Amino acid sequence: MSINNSPIGIFDSGVGGTSIWKEIIKKLPEENTIYLSDSKNAPYGEKSKADIIALAKKNTDYLIAKGAKVIVVACNTATTNGIKILRDSYNIPFIGIEPAIKPASLHTQTNVIGILATKGTLSSELFEKTSSSIRETKTIKEVVGKGLVELIEKGKGESEEMHSLLQSYLHPLLQDNIDCLVLGCTHYPYLIPQIKKIVGKNVQIIDSGEAVARQTKAILTKNNLLNFKNSAVKHEFFINTNKTVLEQLVKNNGANIVVTEQDF
Ligand code: DGL
Repeated sequence: MSINNSPIGIFDSGVGGTSIWKEIIKKLPEENTIYLSDSKNAPYGEKSKADIIALAKKNTDYLIAKGAKVIVVACNTATTNGIKILRDSYNIPFIGIEPAIKPASLHTQTNVIGILATKGTLSSELFEKTSSSIRETKTIKEVVGKGLVELIEKGKGESEEMHSLLQSYLHPLLQDNIDCLVLGCTHYPYLIPQIKKIVGKNVQIIDSGEAVARQTKAILTKNNLLNFKNSAVKHEFFINTNKTVLEQLVKNNGANIVVTEQDF
């Protein structure tokens, strides 16, 4: 079997990275994928940098053992804290995800950008580096979305509790006159309908999912790793907690989707 037929490996601290997986399979319909949902250890955003890196390496080892040809780190927290170390430690291409504050800075008219992300992402050196040049001309208002990942992991994305939390995080940003809201966590695209109800149509919601899929295609192309003809596309999901929420999020996305509970 040629390496081109090997799967794209994707991991996240939980089910949120499936928002990226959906963009990837849209752009790369011939590719097989393996997705790891490390829900047992969610949220990563409240952990130390050393712990986040150790978990990212554990997930990478698992995906490589399963034959992944590239690794998509579908987690802003793991990317902003660990992508450099991952790239230095393994001989496999990595694609990461970072909050889309650059596109937001080009779009804003009020010059005030809101960002909702985890504590781990907002306190990372990589985020500090990317945002510092933008801060020269724009104001970036940061909010830690504490509790949001946990509710999504429990399948409570549309609960009253979620709505109240979102209101408490977003109302201050609206008072600060933001016209762009960057979603800096791969779980948050699942909250877009509720967020829209709160922020209204004058605030543009920006996430990085499509850009990551584009970059994944570019990296596969550059490394001659694209799968051109695949009559039996397969998407495998592994989760180290109960699989109900994950299954709910990924079903109806084509045939051959297999979700397995497994400890890793
Ligand atoms: N989906 C992860 C991210 O993009 C969530 C992090 C967490 O588990 O706190 O950052």
